[in-house]
Amino acid sequence: MQINTFEEYQETYQKSINQPEEFWAGIASNFLWKKKWDNVLSWDFASPSIKWFEGAKLNITENCLDRHLAEKGDTPAIVWEPNDPEKESITLTYRVLHEQVCRFANVLKKNGVQKGDRVCIYMPMVPELAVAVLACARIGAVHSVVFGGFSAKSIADRINDAACKVVVTADGAFRGNKQIQLKEVIDDALIGCPTIEKVIVLTHTRTPVSMLKGRDCWWEDEIKLVDSNCPAEEMNAEDMLFILYTSGSTGKPKGVVHTCGGYMVYAGYTFSNVFNYQPGEVYFCTADIGWITGHSYIVYGPLSQGATTLMFEGIPTYPNASRFWDIVEKHQVNILYTAPTAIRSLMGFGTAPVQGKDLSSLRVLGSVGEPINEEAWHWFDEEIGKKNCPIVDTWWQTETGGIMISPIAFVTPTKPSFATLPLPGIQPILVDEQGKEIEGNGVNGNLCIKFPWPGMLRTTYGDHERCRLTYFSTYQNLYFTGDGCLRDEDGYYRITGRVDDVINVSGHRIGTAEVENAINMHAGVIESAVVGYPHDVKGQGIFAFVIYPGLSKDEDLTRKDILQTVTRIIGAIAKPDKILFVSGLPKTRSGKIMRRILRKVAEGDTSNLGDISTLLDPAVVQEIIDKSKQL
Ligand code: PRX
Repeated sequence: MQINTFEEYQETYQKSINQPEEFWAGIASNFLWKKKWDNVLSWDFASPSIKWFEGAKLNITENCLDRHLAEKGDTPAIVWEPNDPEKESITLTYRVLHEQVCRFANVLKKNGVQKGDRVCIYMPMVPELAVAVLACARIGAVHSVVFGGFSAKSIADRINDAACKVVVTADGAFRGNKQIQLKEVIDDALIGCPTIEKVIVLTHTRTPVSMLKGRDCWWEDEIKLVDSNCPAEEMNAEDMLFILYTSGSTGKPKGVVHTCGGYMVYAGYTFSNVFNYQPGEVYFCTADIGWITGHSYIVYGPLSQGATTLMFEGIPTYPNASRFWDIVEKHQVNILYTAPTAIRSLMGFGTAPVQGKDLSSLRVLGSVGEPINEEAWHWFDEEIGKKNCPIVDTWWQTETGGIMISPIAFVTPTKPSFATLPLPGIQPILVDEQGKEIEGNGVNGNLCIKFPWPGMLRTTYGDHERCRLTYFSTYQNLYFTGDGCLRDEDGYYRITGRVDDVINVSGHRIGTAEVENAINMHAGVIESAVVGYPHDVKGQGIFAFVIYPGLSKDEDLTRKDILQTVTRIIGAIAKPDKILFVSGLPKTRSGKIMRRILRKVAEGDTSNLGDISTLLDPAVVQEIIDKSKQL
């Protein structure tokens, strides 16, 4: 399944375009199926209706666990590094992980979870999180993992949208020198969640928690009551595997749906190829399982390939900025997959934290989540890779399920800040605003994909029309990514960032409308407009323009109050970096906010605002400019 030379890549790519069904059938035959498919692909982007490997039966956990037992039973599947470096790390072999997953799958069943039921998982980055995810998949329940940084309200919205039956959580989480009271947040969330019948709570931080009779139970107690034999549920290839919520241009996050067969094939194939994973290697992805990167490249991709995947509970700067490098040295990490925001933040500490660390085990470096600027690319290459490790700058999305445009390690010549070339099976196309294809090289356009791939989303949970409108209606017969893209003279792709109202803060996708809704909920706020602006570490920062009439002299306190509101409504990740109080917003006569102007102001570039004559009240622009200079 692995591609070893650039010529091989080119041949494989051609084949994957000319005979996509044959190509993917060949890749899929490397996986374990209970029954083979009747039909490789049927599709129609207009509906959209996308079906891969129809008629096939499988269980993804048999691919991630059972099939490795005979030869790799004693190989580490998960190596866990705790937040506190003084504490012991934990290794789960494939045999142990298999047993834990089966046991917890039985716990879920005992608590009433059946095939097709939705389970919300809100946990710290501990091995039990991976166990809970796989246990759902084992019995055909649909997991919906919610990142540990989201607020009670965000969790409640997600639980209600999917009508989840059970929540799996923990007492708390450690993050650097902070503790997050996960169970408390869940308790707040569940006040408004009538569908939840049971809450299973893992003991982790040992903080006191309230346990509601009849609803809440302890993970540790429950696993003692079940055995470790749990046959894998037979799933159709197109049965739902999981839902993962992500932000878009409108206020409400969408539940992106991935299915069992295609997602498995795509996550496994891309993992094996992009990182050139070799048996026995230790692979470390620094993401959280609460995001798609963790789903595809901490859990499903690596485990489907029998890899050793390292899970880290903490943050890159705790107890100091050497933490990642200490982990690399301690666990002899061979492949490190991280985000530009982490690289930039560590760069800020200079080279001292890297000095004296043995990074010689590293063979491949990866980047994901946002455009990587050249400076960060070179720092990663020189200081971490010692100019000896290929950097794979992987472009993809929650919706794509797996990596789409990326170098293949040791195969594709890299170029700083370029995601380079599409992986086999991926057919990118650049279009102009009207949807006309922009051909040739040295061109810019909106990035679309014109042919299905196995890992793509199938729908948005409970609202198929929304899926159609968001991804398949902007341009006919194309999947629209929402990203702008340059194809340079060599045909290499560079993602230039979102062209819609989505901002990417530290690799986290946040909808401007979502933040505006949260700000507008604050008493006293009449209206707000949120835009992204370049931020040295986060990639993009959040800039909010807020109309707040009766503002008292203590502007700073009001700012903090607003931040508090946003934290309550969405979570700390959506807190604006800057808030500017204004008396009006630049609106067109039809009432549309001209974000272009606000973006310029947020960037500090007010010299050329373009034509503002169509504004209802051009005078507000001068006021905004003057005020922004005082911020
Ligand atoms: O704008 C692109 C950016 O992240 C968006 C997807 O965000 P999310 O669904 O949260 O998934 C993140 C992890 C896959 C994309 O639309 N993005 C992701 N990777 C890159 C990137 N932008 C530039 N270069 C990348 N390598």
